[in-house]
Amino acid sequence: MIITLLCFLCLYIRTQAILNGLNGTSSGWQIYPGDTYHYGPSILIDENKDNLIHMWTCSQGTGSTQWDVIRYHNSSDSGKTWSLDEIALEPTSGSQDTYSACDPGVVKIKSYYYIGYTSTTNPNATQNQLFLARSLTPNGNYEKWNGTGWNSSNPQPIVAYHGPSSKYGIGEPSLVLVDNLIYVYYTNADDTGSYTDLAIVQLNATNEDTWPLYLQYKGHVIYRRVNLGEDSTDIKWCPQLQRFIGVTTVNRFSSQATVGVYQSTDRYGLQFQSTPYIGHRVQEGTHNIGISGSTTGWIQLENQYHFVSYAYQPQGSSWGKWPTYLTPVQIVQLPLGTVIDVAVSSNVNWSMSGPFVWDHNFTTYWSSQSANNEFLTINLGTVFSVKTLSLVSRSLGYGFPVDFAVRASNDSQNFVHIIDQHYTNTTTVVNCSFTTPVQARYLQVLPITYGTDEHGIKLFQLAEIYVQTD
Ligand SMILES: *[C@@H]1O[C@H](CO)[C@@H](O)[C@H](O)[C@H]1NC(C)=O
Ligand SMILES: *[C@@H]1O[C@H](CO)[C@@H](O)[C@H](O)[C@H]1NC(C)=O
Ligand SMILES: *[C@@H]1O[C@H](CO)[C@@H](O)[C@H](O)[C@H]1NC(C)=O
Ligand SMILES: *[C@@H]1O[C@H](CO)[C@@H](O)[C@H](O)[C@H]1NC(C)=O
Ligand SMILES: *[C@@H]1O[C@H](CO)[C@@H](O)[C@H](O)[C@H]1NC(C)=O
Ligand SMILES: *[C@@H]1O[C@H](CO)[C@@H](O)[C@H](O)[C@H]1NC(C)=O
Ligand SMILES: *[C@@H]1O[C@H](CO)[C@@H](O)[C@H](O)[C@H]1NC(C)=O
Ligand SMILES: *[C@@H]1O[C@H](CO)[C@@H](O)[C@H](O)[C@H]1NC(C)=O
Ligand SMILES: *[C@@H]1O[C@H](CO)[C@@H](O)[C@H](O)[C@H]1NC(C)=O
Ligand SMILES: *[C@@H]1O[C@H](CO)[C@@H](O)[C@H](O)[C@H]1NC(C)=O
Ligand SMILES: *[C@@H]1O[C@H](CO)[C@@H](O)[C@H](O)[C@H]1NC(C)=O
Repeated sequence: MIITLLCFLCLYIRTQAILNGLNGTSSGWQIYPGDTYHYGPSILIDENKDNLIHMWTCSQGTGSTQWDVIRYHNSSDSGKTWSLDEIALEPTSGSQDTYSACDPGVVKIKSYYYIGYTSTTNPNATQNQLFLARSLTPNGNYEKWNGTGWNSSNPQPIVAYHGPSSKYGIGEPSLVLVDNLIYVYYTNADDTGSYTDLAIVQLNATNEDTWPLYLQYKGHVIYRRVNLGEDSTDIKWCPQLQRFIGVTTVNRFSSQATVGVYQSTDRYGLQFQSTPYIGHRVQEGTHNIGISGSTTGWIQLENQYHFVSYAYQPQGSSWGKWPTYLTPVQIVQLPLGTVIDVAVSSNVNWSMSGPFVWDHNFTTYWSSQSANNEFLTINLGTVFSVKTLSLVSRSLGYGFPVDFAVRASNDSQNFVHIIDQHYTNTTTVVNCSFTTPVQARYLQVLPITYGTDEHGIKLFQLAEIYVQTD
């Protein structure tokens, strides 16, 4: 009895002690050119239609009174080629969703495709609310929720916004069906902050056509890191892990843009923690990302082809001219103590940007822009007992600091000095082992004497950084 209980505990702790992150397995390819925009994709892979991939995006409307419409296209060859896109859902002029139908979040329940979408009547594009429409076909004939039933002449929000009119409000949904529960995750940004919120409804025989009436608010599930330029979250359910997995973009629109990954801390999807994104990078200026799933919003650990898709702003491109890209990913299980993300003081450009220092690839690297007050700070997600900080240099030790300090912090603001290091020899991996383990969530490397790159220029450059914990 005791042995059984102990083993159960071991197993429990083992499954908890894992970071389910994402690994970009190739850089991917472009799926929409950037003459206008197609962003915030919702992607469903239809197992009953030979894995046909449905994709809905927010795209350009006709102009000043109709900003955005939702367009649809599909692919029957794993996302390589796509049907011509067509308008699936438009705003109803003069109604509650007058200006836009944007940010689709789609789920199929029984015979219906349900599109959750963002719209507003405020010409400032603030004060958004969350709307819903449904159709028997993915590419059109949607009827909108009107507060009691389905009629597009008088759309009404399924989640209304009551905060200050100057704030973003509510929108950017992602919908998931688990057993008979519909999870509606959405952006809520008001004067108190920016969050991903959750509302849930239980489906039964009598509320199939009226379920939006019974949504129950569950509160904030993600507190967005506004200082990191984090945007909306697209969330799926992973049955094998019994957790929800979410993606967002951080440092959106910049050369440092990358994917932020979340996992729910349990199977109820009420709380999320950050996990790493490693492998092939997403494009420069990435924003508004989506991840593929089944028609009910499930992501299978095995036997399914996964990818993320996102709009991005290439260097020199102007606002709104955003191609859309597709990057294949797999779920990877990484031990606790794996670096979640790294903040860098500066970077030269996308080719040498910060995320290359935690992509788990020793051939890519980060470079600072100067040799003044540069640093990098790693985030372990929570406080760990760190025995060793390992720094992987570029080949031939280019840009590796000659002298540097290591500092530790729990809040990334107040740092305690740990040790100074001096390296004159070029080795691939430099292990800074601490005489007593350092308890901290953040560790910072601060060069004192800079090394030089292959052109003799003083810079701080690094291929990879990781820790060994107790
Ligand atoms: C990430 O994907 C690459 C390419 O498929 C693979 O070589 C690498 O082992 C993967 N990383 C992990 C941690 O699974
Ligand atoms: C695929 O997309 C095209 C273009 O929107 C549409 O005509 C077709 O019906 C879609 N296929 C399926 C199976 O939904
Ligand atoms: C739009 O923004 C302007 C400038 O902040 C403000 O004066 C105006 O009241 C806003 N309009 C609405 C409808 O909120
Ligand atoms: C909503 O649509 C249903 C079905 O067309 C209709 O019976 C009902 O009167 C509409 N309600 C409102 C408030 O417009
Ligand atoms: C939707 O509402 C309009 C206006 O109230 C009405 O004329 C129309 O018949 C309704 N459509 C359906 C399908 O109920
Ligand atoms: C179905 O769900 C609705 C809303 O949650 C509830 O009011 C109703 O009693 C339920 N009906 C049955 C048969 O369980
Ligand atoms: C980044 O800068 C390096 C050095 O100036 C240059 O070789 C490289 O082409 C640049 N990459 C991009 C994407 O601009
Ligand atoms: C590591 O990065 C290099 C350079 O971008 C790339 O060619 C290689 O495929 C990457 N390796 C893995 C395992 O992703
Ligand atoms: C971080 O918090 C732990 C307690 O959780 C404490 O022991 C440690 O000293 C703190 N580290 C720093 C660098 O403040
Ligand atoms: C450099 O290498 C020599 C010989 O392997 C070793 O004795 C010395 O400790 C190394 N110095 C540093 C700073 O690692
Ligand atoms: C540094 O630590 C790694 C384990 O992460 C080990 O494989 C390697 O041999 C160590 N290198 C040196 C130079 O001590």
